Amino acid sequence: MQYDEAKLTEYLLDPPSDIDLSSLDMARIPRHISCIMDGNGRWATARGMARTEGHKAGIVSLREIITACVRLGVDVLSAYAFSTENWNRPQHEVNLLMHLFAKTFIDELPLLKQENVQVRFLGDISALPARTREVFEYGLAECASHTGMVLALAVNYGGRAELVRASKLLAQRVLEGTLDVEDIDEASLSEQLYTAGLPDPELVVRTSGELRVSNYLLWQIAYAEFYVTDTYWPDFDRWELIRAILAFQNRDRRFGGLSAKR
Ligand code: IPE
Ligand code: IPE
Ligand code: MG
Repeated sequence: MQYDEAKLTEYLLDPPSDIDLSSLDMARIPRHISCIMDGNGRWATARGMARTEGHKAGIVSLREIITACVRLGVDVLSAYAFSTENWNRPQHEVNLLMHLFAKTFIDELPLLKQENVQVRFLGDISALPARTREVFEYGLAECASHTGMVLALAVNYGGRAELVRASKLLAQRVLEGTLDVEDIDEASLSEQLYTAGLPDPELVVRTSGELRVSNYLLWQIAYAEFYVTDTYWPDFDRWELIRAILAFQNRDRRFGGLSAKR
């Protein structure tokens, strides 16, 4: 995606001393960056605060990473906000999160408009509380004309549930006679996923040090590069993102073949 060099330079003034911006290759910014936004609860607990305060602080980070990705010309930013397993949390935390998702979407509409950000949800939105669902539908309509970076928010998302859903949709088409079993391939399955039409993530960032996937984009991350930082999500900022991208640019992506550098 096009990026504005003057705006980017201004956005990346005064980098921390460990970051050498001259080594950032703007021709090799990942097209799709995905964040597993983890560690909100521990961030708050470490400060003697309620876990829910960590979720509120996490919103500030998401706002910064949206802006940073727009400045960098990223095509797609996806973020894991609520998994199909997160319903297992205490009811008051689930309620707060559902309220926060709705409030944040409204609060951030000016930013999404200003930056021309396209919004889509990954996951079963229909199962959310009515108020959250209604706000999401309103926000989606407000952003419908946008043509810039895609922000894909995974809410009530699970990789396994997504694959079960895709299997059912394919089976339905076979039953209807619009799809031949022999024609089921990787492309037709991809088309039934919530991410249909989006490029696969090239860089997946997980904060808070956890070395697991937690049911996230199981199909789409087949060849993603992983970057895990111990930083909790509320402390993840533009410089942490630059560190992740610099690490990505140093990886040797072989896709099962041999290194291009050999
Ligand atoms: C991530 O932070 C946000 C959600 C899963 C909703 P957590 O709430 O998982 O924070 P930790 O992992 O308990 O610190
Ligand atoms: C993954 O984080 C889900 C989100 C970031 C929304 P969790 O905190 O739910 O993952 P686990 O339970 O540590 O694997
Ligand atoms: Mg967690």
